Amino acid sequence: TAFTNILTREDGGVGIITLNRPKALNALSTPLMTELNDALAQYDRDDGIMAIVLTGSEKAFAAGADIKEMRELTFMECYKKEFITSWTKVTTTRKPVIAAVSGFALGGGCELAMMCDIIYASHDAKFGQPEINLGILPGAGGTQRLVRAVGKSKAMELCLTGDMMTAQEALAGGLVAKVVPAGESTVLEEAIKTAKKIAKKSLPSVMMVKECVNKSFELSLAEGLHLERRFFHAAFATQDQKEGMGAFVEKRKPSWTHE
Ligand code: HXC
Repeated sequence: TAFTNILTREDGGVGIITLNRPKALNALSTPLMTELNDALAQYDRDDGIMAIVLTGSEKAFAAGADIKEMRELTFMECYKKEFITSWTKVTTTRKPVIAAVSGFALGGGCELAMMCDIIYASHDAKFGQPEINLGILPGAGGTQRLVRAVGKSKAMELCLTGDMMTAQEALAGGLVAKVVPAGESTVLEEAIKTAKKIAKKSLPSVMMVKECVNKSFELSLAEGLHLERRFFHAAFATQDQKEGMGAFVEKRKPSWTHE
């Protein structure tokens, strides 16, 4: 499929999606989000793809939803077409999605990164929810996922002031898993390296881990532990369990069939 707002490429079982509206700092327009949804759905269906990396430019992962598109919107238009409601394909993608964030991840851009499973940040990444400065509020999870990531006080501070948080603060708060310092490798390269590592695992295990971890946000501990136990039992129905344990005992590398 030909995209105009994003770029896609594949590398060693990893699908790489680059947001590509550099002049608008990757502002998330409806056409861009439609393309992103399509690309994610394609990779999710593709048996050759085991993990996905989502990135932007050096200057911006994404500077938010497209303010020029939203400016004249009315309540009825938002309500009737369920504005933003369909921007959630990242959250229903079953293969892992790693966000590689350089520069600005603001508003919808920060929210999009938070929909991903792992966030890696470059040393100069900046995260924030500046919607308050536009007379609106976050609309794609900023008031919800940020609280779960960095706690109430920091999330409240960011959403109420619109101030940006540095990569180091994001790391300290637990929003990002790694900050990549200036130097030899870029945040995108580090994200691809991790995605390739995951791509070499058994896909059923990977998908089950992702599903269980994400459910931990929705379920009570008892329900979450129950779900995990059932998936654990189910893993013994896979060929990959026999292969993985067989390979360990026979002191060789496993060869996954992903079944
Ligand atoms: C549309 C945007 C944009 C956005 C930047 N641009 N952000 N266009 N929507 N969110 C455009 C600018 O208008 C400008 O276009 C070009 O990108 C370069 O931006 P500059 O402002 O000139 O760059 P700079 O001075 O480096 O400042 C960078 C910045 C600033 C601090 C990131 O652009 C900024 O504050 N952007 C808005 C951030 C924001 O408020 N995001 C939240 C949006 S609301 P021209 O044509 O002038 O060159 C939101 C709601 C989420 O996300 C709802 C759920 C998804």
